[in-house]
This record gives sequence, C-alpha cells and structure tokens, in this order.
Amino acid sequence: MKKVFSGIQPSGTMTIGNYLGAMKNFVKLQNEAECVFCVVDLHAITVPQEPEVLRQNSLNLAALYIAAGIDPNRSTLFVQSQVPAHAELGWLLQCIAYYGELGRMTQFKDKSSKKEVVTAGLFTYPALMAADILLYQTDLVPVGEDQKQHLELTRDVAERFNNRFGQTFTIPDPYIPKVGGRIMSLEDPSKKMSKSDENPSAYISMLDEPDVIRKKISRAVTDSEREVRYDEENKPAISNLLTIYSLFVDKSVADIEAMYEGKGYGPFKKDLAEVVVDGLSPIQTRYAELLNSGELQDILREGARKATEKSEPTLADVKEKLGFLK
Ligand code: AQP
Repeated sequence: MKKVFSGIQPSGTMTIGNYLGAMKNFVKLQNEAECVFCVVDLHAITVPQEPEVLRQNSLNLAALYIAAGIDPNRSTLFVQSQVPAHAELGWLLQCIAYYGELGRMTQFKDKSSKKEVVTAGLFTYPALMAADILLYQTDLVPVGEDQKQHLELTRDVAERFNNRFGQTFTIPDPYIPKVGGRIMSLEDPSKKMSKSDENPSAYISMLDEPDVIRKKISRAVTDSEREVRYDEENKPAISNLLTIYSLFVDKSVADIEAMYEGKGYGPFKKDLAEVVVDGLSPIQTRYAELLNSGELQDILREGARKATEKSEPTLADVKEKLGFLK
C-alpha cells in the first residue's frame, strides 16, 4: 500500500482553495493508501500568531479534516507540535539543505516581500516540511500547485542524505490535481486564494455562512464580455469560477460551459453560489457537531501516539547515521 502524507496550516480558516486543491484529494486517497494527515502548527508560527487564536484554529482545522471526510480510525490525524520528531528531524534536515536552495523558494520571496520583520523560520520552513514528509517514508504528497517547489526541495534533500549516508528516505512524488491545483482569489485572479489574505472577500472560507458566500460570489470580479467560457489567459476570473463550479458538482468544465451558453454571468454566478453553499453545508453541520462533542482532544491524542510510533524508526535511523550517541 502506498504511503501518503500531507498537512495544512492552522493559519486561519481553511478556504475552498485548500479544500479543492488539497483536502478533497486527501479524502479520495484514504480509500487506496495508508494516510497520515497533519495540522502543521509549527509552520503556522513562521509568521506571528495570537496564541489563543492559534490553539483554537488548530482544533478547528482538525474538526474540519474530519467533517470533510477524513476518518481518524483509518488515517492518522494529528497536530504537528504534539509529535516532537517533526521539530527534531526538521533541525537535522536544516543541516542538510543548502542556504542557496532555500533562498530560491518563491513562497519565501512572496511571503517575505514588503515585510518589516522576517523570521528565520519562514526561511527554513521547507526543511521542516521535508521532515514532515520524510519521517513517514511517504510515497505520495497530495498538495496544491504552490507546494510543488517545496516538494522538489524535499526530494533533493532526501536524495542528498541517501547518497551521503546510505538508503534512508523514500523519495516522495507530488500528487497535484489537474483541475483545482491553484484556485485563485475572487478579487484578483492573478493571485492564489489564501486563507491569510487581508481581504476576506478574496476567499470563501469553509465556514462562511450561506449569505456571505452568496455575497462574495456575486461580487467576485469577472472579465469583460458576458460569455461563460473557460480561457485562462483571456478570461482568468470566469475560468477560476468555472473550475470551482466543476469541482463542487464533479462535472467537466465543458459540461458547465454548455449549461450556461448564451445565458451570461448573472445566472451562472447565482447558481455557483448555491452549488458552493450546498457543497459546504454537510461539512459545516458535521463540523459544528464535532466541536460540541468533546471527542476531538482524544482523537488528536491517539493520532499523535500513532504518528510518534510510525515516525520513530526513521528518526532513530537518521540519528544513528549522523553519528549521534544512543
Ligand atoms: N489557492 C489554492 N488552490 C489550491 N490549493 C491550495 N492550497 C493552498 N492554497 C491553494 C493547498 O492547500 C494545502 C494547505 O496549504 P497550507 O495551509 O499548508 O499553506 P498555503 O499553501 O500557504 O495555503 P494558504 O491558504 O495560502 O495559507 P496561508 O495564507 O497561511 O499562507 C497545500 O497543499 C496547498 O498547496
């Protein structure tokens, strides 16, 4: 059975970008692979977080994983800071990764530009991400397109370690969806949708109320003309909305174009809002039940125990190979 690992940062409430680009695939892969899914709170603190907000966001994200379809009995679901092996291997891999290659990461350049203060953690983040993945001898990493470069670095670091110290890590492959790997902002279709965007109109959160979703979609920017047609280059805004529609109803973009031929943007956006509201509604109901049930802490404790057990042999092997005392 293939091994799968992926994580999401509790840096805000998950957006439909995180859902369509990553989590929907986590749920699918659960049926065919041994899966480990993580709330990566150590990554979230690479930028400032309010402690109480971070704690709550971590619980909320764990609840969203389960509400979206992750079954904690079949998959290992845990919070990164509760399994110290991540921070430990993260440091060890910082000593394998090169300063030059970390400096080439476009996400670091984007997230550090125009910031007064940039933490060292934001710079070394990809080494921690490599540790997250490599600890579990992962074969496949379901991620959105923005993580492709970090995954290439993970592969490079793993190969470098294996070449120097002998076979230690499985070399993981990315698993990026052909459609939905990069859901764009509703306000600016040249920017990806992000949960930490300062402008909440740019994204739809998984927990947005129906009326908020309707308002955001009705105000989402569109392109000139009124034809509902997929054309990423000339009509990026409508193409993005078509992608969202297609993924929520599991129909091809061509089918949806045909449904709205000659109808213009108004009816398309109105229906899209209902499609998103209906798609999120069962997840939101299950989420509320979970948060009120008090089960979550126990699920996460058990997840951390399983993750510790699974990661121990790899960490021990790495430490032995690096020359540490037993
Ligand atoms: N817009 C997106 N379209 C498709 N996939 C996306 N992902 C993120 N944004 C999109 C994928 O979601 C997973 C979890 O992402 P993350 O929370 O670990 O970090 P991120 O990529 O930095 O996501 P955000 O929403 O932009 O978070 P902030 O605002 O905190 O930086 C990843 O697989 C990612 O590819």
